Amino acid sequence: MAQMEANTGRRPRVVVTRRIFEDLAQELRGRFDVIDNQDDEDWSTQQLRERLADADALLTDPGRRVDASLLEGCARLCVVSNIAVGFNNIDLEACTRARIVATNTPDVLNDATADHAWALMLAAARRVAESDRWTRAGNWRRFALDSFLGIDVFGATLGVLGMGRIGRAIARRAQGFCMPVLYHNRNPLAGQDAEWAPAQAPRWVERERLLHEADFLIVVVPYTTATHHLIGAKELAQMKPGSVLVNIARGGIVDDAALAQALRLGRPAAAGLDVMENEPHIFPGLLALDNVVLTPHIASATGSARRAMVRRAIENLTQVLRNERPDAILNGEVWERRRLGTGAQ
Ligand code: DGY
Repeated sequence: MAQMEANTGRRPRVVVTRRIFEDLAQELRGRFDVIDNQDDEDWSTQQLRERLADADALLTDPGRRVDASLLEGCARLCVVSNIAVGFNNIDLEACTRARIVATNTPDVLNDATADHAWALMLAAARRVAESDRWTRAGNWRRFALDSFLGIDVFGATLGVLGMGRIGRAIARRAQGFCMPVLYHNRNPLAGQDAEWAPAQAPRWVERERLLHEADFLIVVVPYTTATHHLIGAKELAQMKPGSVLVNIARGGIVDDAALAQALRLGRPAAAGLDVMENEPHIFPGLLALDNVVLTPHIASATGSARRAMVRRAIENLTQVLRNERPDAILNGEVWERRRLGTGAQ
């Protein structure tokens, strides 16, 4: 930083797209000249572009598209720091072309996100949201043996589509529920055995087999053009009767219209979605259904995980502005030829 200030005679400028925790915002203000958004306004692309005109760094949220058209005219910008592990909102090629470093926040949210996947699984299986709505509506008159019959979780087969860091955290929790775990990744995991009780090590299977055999299928793959509608009508029809689908990865991996239709037909029997295509706009067909539990992209939203994400994102951009290579760099190939910030190019 001192180097940058010496080079430029001004403190590096950081633009923040969303309200962040006030104490962390203060830390940021202590280091940089900050244009923040503590009122959490929905800046248009044009408003953000104007704020970025003179900025060295962008601290952004996963709801904000960062692409060539936004970056155009940001002559000083040298780092885009995403407050998320998923980075489908960032056009990495555009960043690389512009010699801008992009970073994300892996690891710090693994457990919070895995917990939420389980919350959705359990809520969908045991009809928690549906029976809560019914109870609040004053419908409860007597104990009934056949009221809100759900799906057994203990001992059922868990399927994980995308066995990365979060997938593994989800799978580890299955040991407590005595659930065999099947997973599909492009390649089987190597050398993970120490993580699992011997009888409970996850087994790699083909994707079709995962769909056929999982009682609970959790989607945890990154969103790319290759994973767009990875779970569509055909795949939903291959799911085991009575099974439950959970998506905590990104909207667009599951075809929401196809899912609404499949849920109406009862296969899968239920679903839990933390992410949706076109969020925050929800496919109307899903809203009409009781056998889907919806949460508003909060899988990582515990106080400690969200703070850790913001902190990590601040550290990432600080490192770049200090000319230190952050571990969480997404476009490592740009490092040697990156922009060096105001006046230092
Ligand atoms: C992530 O980090 O990608 C989450 O989806 C944001 O909460």
